[in-house]
Amino acid sequence: MQLSEFDDYDDIDLSPYYAKPNRKARTRNRKKQTGAEQHVDYFSQIDFDTAEEYSAFEYFIGEGIIASGGPVLKQGKEACVYRCPAEGTERSREVAVKVYKNIEHRSFQALSAYLQGRLAEAGINRRDSMHILSTPSELQAFWVYSEFSVMQRLHDAGLPVPVPYAKCATAFAMEFIYEDDKQDEPALRLHEYQCGPGEAQNNKRMLLNAIERMLELNIIHGDLSPYNILVRNGKPVIIDFPQAVDARYNIRGREMLERDILNVCRYCPHERMSPQEETARLTERLWEPFSH
Ligand SMILES: Nc1ncnc2c1ncn2[C@@H]1O[C@H](COP(=O)(O)OP(=O)(O)OP(=O)(O)O)[C@@H](O)[C@H]1O
Ligand SMILES: [Mg+2]
Repeated sequence: MQLSEFDDYDDIDLSPYYAKPNRKARTRNRKKQTGAEQHVDYFSQIDFDTAEEYSAFEYFIGEGIIASGGPVLKQGKEACVYRCPAEGTERSREVAVKVYKNIEHRSFQALSAYLQGRLAEAGINRRDSMHILSTPSELQAFWVYSEFSVMQRLHDAGLPVPVPYAKCATAFAMEFIYEDDKQDEPALRLHEYQCGPGEAQNNKRMLLNAIERMLELNIIHGDLSPYNILVRNGKPVIIDFPQAVDARYNIRGREMLERDILNVCRYCPHERMSPQEETARLTERLWEPFSH
């Protein structure tokens, strides 16, 4: 992808994403944070200078979060996760630092389609959206901001996600998840984790419960699968949220929720129902507050 492609942003139609939330969801969320407040958060929270002045490691060392940089733990499609020694004693031995790949390396089509929705959901007006879409460093920072702020909200609500520590314009630092809290082995992903049917059933129940609790906060993961779930002490921990969406605004919300549920139902199928049937029933029930 060439950055010049961002010059075409005038062709992007953002209007569907500015639809008002429906009445049921609006009533439910009257007391919750509005999009406009999130907008203010976005511009005040991101320190854009950090991208040029420091590397992510230097930034987190300066913040007293890590003692030094560390080796790559996993190289993903969107980002690279490093395991770094923690500074001080408040955190566990290590910190996971997720550094996003340069925006130029991502597929423009997927990115712009996705971001059109996200920017509007964050309450960012059309003019500011255009600015962000055409400025690579802001686009990068928005991506980090999206994942970090979703993790903060989920962690504050007691959902099983790594504790988010701090972010800069290109990366964020979070709790390192071990297979077993007393050992040094990084947690396996759910698709690699071997367990009996009883334990799988229990994991499924916890994950469906987490999906429902996220939805109470209007959050849909959007890429939930056994590849984005770690297992710590035999229990699931959900990771990888950059594509999470707000169920009130995103026109593909129901579809994304359905896909997340289907991935969990496929992981541990019901005795008497196909994963598709079970997913259809659950989606119908969970989506009810958001349907028109
Ligand atoms: N907090 C953490 N503690 C331990 N391991 C982690 C943590 N966060 C991520 N990882 C490891 O790093 C991998 C990549 O992380 P993540 O899924 O967030 O990035 P990604 O770029 O989206 O990767 P992918 O393309 O594989 O989905 C995870 O599959 C997991 O193995
Ligand atoms: Mg992932």
